[in-house]
Amino acid sequence: MRCRRCRSPEIVIELRRHNAAFCRDCFLHHCREQVRRTIEDFEMFHAGERIIVAVSGGKDSLGLWDLLLDLDYDADGLYLGLGIGDYSSASATTTRAFAQRRGAKLVEIDLPGDHGFDIPTAAAVTRRVPCSACGLSKRHLFNAAAQQGGYAVLATGHNLDDEAAVLFGNVLRWEREYLGRQLPVLAATPGFVRKVKPLVRLGEREMAAYCILTGIDYIVEECPNAVGNKHLGYKEALNAIEEQSPGAKNAFYFGFLARASPLFRDDAAIRDELESCSSCGSPTTGDVCAFCKLVTRVANPAPAGEVGG
Ligand code: AMP
Ligand code: FES
Ligand code: ZN
Repeated sequence: MRCRRCRSPEIVIELRRHNAAFCRDCFLHHCREQVRRTIEDFEMFHAGERIIVAVSGGKDSLGLWDLLLDLDYDADGLYLGLGIGDYSSASATTTRAFAQRRGAKLVEIDLPGDHGFDIPTAAAVTRRVPCSACGLSKRHLFNAAAQQGGYAVLATGHNLDDEAAVLFGNVLRWEREYLGRQLPVLAATPGFVRKVKPLVRLGEREMAAYCILTGIDYIVEECPNAVGNKHLGYKEALNAIEEQSPGAKNAFYFGFLARASPLFRDDAAIRDELESCSSCGSPTTGDVCAFCKLVTRVANPAPAGEVGG
């Protein structure tokens, strides 16, 4: 087997869905090309726009930040400390080390330090799975930080495997509204910054290989709360299908974007007039936004015996 691009016999990775193998340099070129094309094809952003990349310390977001810097984009990082024990301390250390190594600017938010609670406490008080308060906090704080910092766009490290698994879950339940919003680019709307996912053409394995080959030190462990969740189950199911028919994930996700996604556009349209949260100013349908409600609720937990909703 030889490298598809330069014919070298020293291949480092085989990508069955592309029916190709690559040597080190050509594989790194392939990753940059996939990201460059994604940004261009979906008109995610252009040179000169300020980008903030949400970085968790994992292979996808650190790899994305690295790729954007190599492509000469003006990209700062954004790290959110969630207060999830050793997982959060290790991810903070890894993210800071990367920023320092690349001489890049890292914006940091600390949920316990800045907002007075951590994810395990929020989960206990609301009596819901940790990922619920975590997702809400991330959506709110990422958007607020991007707006406050005057960034044009917020980028996340969701890769092809993530997007195909989320799509799989949404299709299983025909979640019309979520399907309408599952796009690699969400345009800015009043109060919300533009959001992009430049890694949708690269899979998990490619991102791990990218980091290893470029010497990016990333945290390998997943968030302890993710173990055994549905999303990981969908990933495993799709991996089994991909094993049988390479390219299935890619066809599923990009086929959805091309042929089915427009059918759900209306379901995702924002119908309610949005007001400004009376506490933080973020857009909300009520008087106080969901994040500020969560902050209040965690600060004033219901007495024992009362069940929260
Ligand atoms: P996840 O929801 O953990 O699959 O992560 C999806 C994306 O959200 C990652 O690729 C990052 O871009 C971003 N992200 C997740 N956790 C954090 C965090 N603690 N701080 C900053 N960005 C994060
Ligand atoms: Fe949010 Fe695990 S990263 S609960
Ligand atoms: Zn608010």
